[in-house]
Amino acid sequence: MYREIMVNSQIEMRGVTNPAVLAAMRKVERDKLVPDEEQPAAYADTPLPIGHGQTISQPFIVAYMTELLNPGPAQRILEIGTGSGYQAAVLAEIVREVYTVEIIPALAERAKTNLDAMGYRNIHFRTGDGGLGWPEEAPFDGIIVTAAARVIPEQLLMQLKPGACMVIPLGSCYSVQSLNVVIREDQGFKMKETIGVRFVPLTGVTQ
Ligand SMILES: C[S@@+](CC[C@H](N)C(=O)[O-])C[C@H]1O[C@@H](n2cnc3c(N)ncnc32)[C@H](O)[C@@H]1O
Repeated sequence: MYREIMVNSQIEMRGVTNPAVLAAMRKVERDKLVPDEEQPAAYADTPLPIGHGQTISQPFIVAYMTELLNPGPAQRILEIGTGSGYQAAVLAEIVREVYTVEIIPALAERAKTNLDAMGYRNIHFRTGDGGLGWPEEAPFDGIIVTAAARVIPEQLLMQLKPGACMVIPLGSCYSVQSLNVVIREDQGFKMKETIGVRFVPLTGVTQ
């Protein structure tokens, strides 16, 4: 019931229409991925703290970014910034395989424990610097970066299949960032700016 209200009032109302995305948002148990002290706000229209100075994103932003990625059932998707594991679970409802990288070991371990307990078998976890991507599993049908980058890591661009896209917030963590879609074309890349967002910074050697 909480998820139905969340999708109707926060996500559809703001214009997300992709049926696969809406179904995933209705299904994934966000309450199982937020800390105990945040339980009353598990389905609220807001990001929430998950410890270590990090956050689980606002449900609308998760839905909007997933819609921008336009994932399909046969695809393999790379996520940078596992955090709570919520975005990975939403993707895992839609695509064949999700590869997710988190730089803070304690968050990576907690997300894996929770998502394993929730029954997800198509999510692959790595602890490390996601700015470097996951070269052994590349190329990907899409990449989603859930932390704000100052510059687009070149390693991630190179791990996109031709025709595939990357959704990435760009800008400083001290101001509103712009959410961008980068499409790999036969020759070069095309970039499209969408809405303003606020994310914690992407850290690591590429930044
Ligand atoms: C806004 S949170 C991600 C929210 C997450 N997608 C979710 O659904 O809960 C950003 C995450 O990116 C992680 N992060 C920052 N820089 C990173 C990097 N270079 N590689 C991997 N993860 C990184 C942070 O530790 C944090 O957990």
